Amino acid sequence: EPQELIDAFEARVAADAFIEPKDWMPDAYRRTLIRQISQHAHSEIVGMLPEGNWITRAPSLKRKTILLAKVQDEAGHGLYLYSAAETLGASREEMIDALHSGKAKYSTIFNYPTLTWADIGAIGWLVDGAAIMNQVPLQRTSYGPYARAMVRVCKEESFHQRQGYDALIVMSNGTDEQKAMVQDAIDRWWWPAIMMFGPPDDNSPNSAQSIRWRIKRETNDELRQKFIDATVPQVHLLGMKVPDPDLKWNEERGHYDYGALDWDEFYAVVRGEGPTAKERMEARRKAWDDGAWVREAADAHEARRRLKAAA
Ligand code: ACO
Repeated sequence: EPQELIDAFEARVAADAFIEPKDWMPDAYRRTLIRQISQHAHSEIVGMLPEGNWITRAPSLKRKTILLAKVQDEAGHGLYLYSAAETLGASREEMIDALHSGKAKYSTIFNYPTLTWADIGAIGWLVDGAAIMNQVPLQRTSYGPYARAMVRVCKEESFHQRQGYDALIVMSNGTDEQKAMVQDAIDRWWWPAIMMFGPPDDNSPNSAQSIRWRIKRETNDELRQKFIDATVPQVHLLGMKVPDPDLKWNEERGHYDYGALDWDEFYAVVRGEGPTAKERMEARRKAWDDGAWVREAADAHEARRRLKAAA
């Protein structure tokens, strides 16, 4: 790669200018973006499954309408992100194939089951909350199409977070059984949610380069700490407990200290050994196969349109 092109690229990144699809970029930068954006897209799409599971069981028409809208938003996020990755030269088929063959990663968080209605509240609040913490800085990521996609995604995610927290406020003011469901959901989702930010900084192979290229604007541990600091008071406001006996406000640091994460569990889930991993991939593959007729019909329609336009 010619040094003057590399220098010009690095100067633009250092000046916080966006890199656009037709601009020259180092091949490794392109590959890193395709990796991160496609994994992000897969996460949005697989993320529809644990919640989609509850659409027919939502406790009221209002909650059902909200949940339907939220799950549809996630589909939209996946589609913007696949489109952003396509501007880098990745094809949709390649990306989908990588997901379905188990080659591509997607967020660990979507490999856990949704056992009760409180889980739907906990996902909106904790999972989408963690996603926002990670995605707000990505609005300033150095690749223009990714940054712009994040603006709308973050707006929608903040609605998702509020609806989740709202559902839990209602339940935590309800019967003892409802309160117990909320605590149980927090107990099960807390640790997986704080694992979403990825491995600790000293074990994150991609971080240093991605921060230099301003793809990532904050490190995994920085974002995890911010999320814990913001979320602990919200747990207390619900009258619930954080399932971490080592959690303690550290006056000197101005942050919460927290207990050790189970990184063996994290890496097992990354390897595809999570509790619902098999079920998630089967559901995705089935959805893809069931949708084959739609893709064929769209292709046939497009072929006919072109024929007409040529005539
Ligand atoms: N789940 C699955 N894989 C993960 C996770 C996770 N929670 N965290 C890290 N990994 C993977 C990385 O993808 C990387 O593997 P790879 O090199 O094969 O791609 C490996 O673990 C090492 O991690 P890092 O070096 O820290 O990787 P990276 O710099 O890409 O940071 C992060 C990971 C923070 C997830 C980053 O990719 C990112 O910010 N992505 C965009 C946000 C996103 O994907 N969110 C999805 C969940 S939110 C939602 O969909 C609602």
